[in-house]
Amino acid sequence: MARLRVGVLISGRGSNLQALIDAARDPGYPAEIAVVVSNRADAPGLGRAAAAGIPHHAIEETRRAAFAEAADRVLRAAGVELVALAGFMRILDLGFVEAWRDRMVNIHPSLLPAFPGLHPQRQALAAGVKFSGCTVHFVRAVVDSGPIVAQAAVPVADDDDEERLAARILAAEHRLYPLAVRLFAERRLRIAGERVLVDGAAAPPAAMLNPSDNRA
Ligand code: GAR
Repeated sequence: MARLRVGVLISGRGSNLQALIDAARDPGYPAEIAVVVSNRADAPGLGRAAAAGIPHHAIEETRRAAFAEAADRVLRAAGVELVALAGFMRILDLGFVEAWRDRMVNIHPSLLPAFPGLHPQRQALAAGVKFSGCTVHFVRAVVDSGPIVAQAAVPVADDDDEERLAARILAAEHRLYPLAVRLFAERRLRIAGERVLVDGAAAPPAAMLNPSDNRA
């Protein structure tokens, strides 16, 4: 069966992009990375795409609508069926969000709706929560909002600083994003209002629920 064609938007390091690239190396994985777009030419993630032989583009357009138009053109030319935001740190044009509605996901390093926006790990430490984690969600107009596909929880240790917590969450992200994209590619996700129902799963995969699996 043809694999789902995924377009990944990045702004920086690209470790989540790498996790998706690595997952797609398995021929049994139901998705492939068709193209990578960065809003910064110096994003290290572009090198990861290059190393994997994946077409990649830097679109250094600061005007929101013009960026969206250029990105949309690249994604459609590559036959993209799902857009995955992976550390993409720009606000997207509303028309673009609508055009890709229910076909665009994002990963965020907190258990949304807690701690949207910038520095979610710092926000989690300041709030004193005992667990944080990461969320993959469908993208809606409001930043870091939208129906939640999957989440992974990690414990917050008493001696955590922002860097240690971010590293523990990132390790969970690298497992969660390939899983969420797999569920989309297998057409197992059904959006019902604010909820995403996963067909064929009596319960979410156990790895997503067991925090001890997510210790970095
Ligand atoms: C990741 O932690 C991702 O969840 C976060 O940026 C980091 C990118 O790392 N995204 C957001 O905060 C979006 N609101 P990466 O470039 O190594 O994947």
